[in-house]
Amino acid sequence: MLFITFEGPEGSGKSSVIKEITSRLQNDGYQVVLTREPGGTPISEQIRNVILDSKNTMMDARTEALLYAASRRQHLVEKIWPSLKEGKIVICDRYLDSSLAYQGYARGLGVEEILKVNSYATEGTFPDLTLLLDLDPQVGLDRIASNSGREVNRLDKEKLSFHLLVREGYLKLSERYKDRYQVIDASSPLEKVIEDTYLAIKKRLGK
Ligand code: TMP
Repeated sequence: MLFITFEGPEGSGKSSVIKEITSRLQNDGYQVVLTREPGGTPISEQIRNVILDSKNTMMDARTEALLYAASRRQHLVEKIWPSLKEGKIVICDRYLDSSLAYQGYARGLGVEEILKVNSYATEGTFPDLTLLLDLDPQVGLDRIASNSGREVNRLDKEKLSFHLLVREGYLKLSERYKDRYQVIDASSPLEKVIEDTYLAIKKRLGK
């Protein structure tokens, strides 16, 4: 029924916002499927483990991009498409735009190249609404560093310059895909970020 994706840097509060938004929408009576990328199904989670394993320092950039796309394909087939067909709201923590910003823009593989690979994987499935939790990467990285319970993955370990490029990439994407993008200021207090996000979704739902 509605395919919503959340994007943003590490430490943007994405997980907390998504959890709260999901329960609010469920309280409003919507059937909501909450899922994430890479992952969301057993096969996709196995691919996630390969991609994010800190020991895989030898991973080639194109291999990484192809693994994200493969994991996405499986996720669409097993979970996203069937749920949308059943009339549910699907909320996905990261999707195609992560590949465009991280692999296409920040890694320098090219946004158009990554779009090509992903058009094969997704058969052209774009989100109806993409909420970008925008934040200065240094603030995000500081938040991660002070949250000792959080796992640190292979991409978290990239330099600040990489994360600055990711942000730039996302902001360019928000211009390119104006119709589906909503940029939320994630430097605000969590309650405000949640409220802004909720209002954007309700607007898209026409409520
Ligand atoms: P997360 O589950 O903590 O958000 O970690 C997933 C990591 O993978 C995060 O650093 C962003 C990265 N990523 C990409 O580089 N490309 C992608 O297509 C996706 C889905 C995630």
